[in-house]
Amino acid sequence: MRKKIIVGNWKMNKTPSETIGLINEIKEKNPAPDCDVVVCTPFVCLSNAVETAKGTNIKVGAQNLYFEDKGAYTGEVSADMLKDLGVEYVIIGHSERRQYFNETDITVNKKVIKALEKDLLPILCVGETLTDREQGVTDDVIRRQTKIAFLNVSKEDAKKVIIAYEPVWAIGTGKTATPEQANEVCAMIRDCIETLYDKDTADALRIQYGGSMNAGNAKELLSKPDIDGGLIGGAALKSDDFTTIIKSC
Ligand code: PGA
Repeated sequence: MRKKIIVGNWKMNKTPSETIGLINEIKEKNPAPDCDVVVCTPFVCLSNAVETAKGTNIKVGAQNLYFEDKGAYTGEVSADMLKDLGVEYVIIGHSERRQYFNETDITVNKKVIKALEKDLLPILCVGETLTDREQGVTDDVIRRQTKIAFLNVSKEDAKKVIIAYEPVWAIGTGKTATPEQANEVCAMIRDCIETLYDKDTADALRIQYGGSMNAGNAKELLSKPDIDGGLIGGAALKSDDFTTIIKSC
């Protein structure tokens, strides 16, 4: 049985002071569920997030990291810096990073390896564009993204990775994949992991769905056998919606 995991991706929203308020609201409404709960805040909010979430079941994640340990990389943030703050998770390869900040499958792979080496749990994002889907290459694109992301990752480490299947056309658009569409791709990703490693690894690894998941559609999506949680953008910024999604687990 895989434990479900609900992750809020705040993107470039909330100031450090607003972070305290939102996490306090989630804490108050959080029914101490039987699933993992993570909030991924902007870098500058992480310290307040860790402090405010201390002693609760809410864990804190970053939205990116750099794959070098230290040095002349102006503007970047290392895994050690995140660890030192008490951060436990990190989103890697979100489609917005791939689209606007030139992240490639290769840099995504380097970041996955660095996160695992430093004991941060990667939330690896994969997903097809609308053109990919319309041209019938969804499987090819996602298998490529997945296979390259796991290059040189050991079987033991692979199990720690959380994969977020996020169809690019569903992110922030209000268009959600149907539960059947989402489950089909999540099952395909699991099959890809089985091909790369083995059934044991594929069965252990958690695969989330992300893309306009909200308080209204979460329950049905989360009831599908291959969907082990959600990566939530817009709805993670409202404590009522986010905690309703948590309760849907
Ligand atoms: P959304 O974003 O829920 O606002 O569609 C999801 C994501 O990008 O992780």
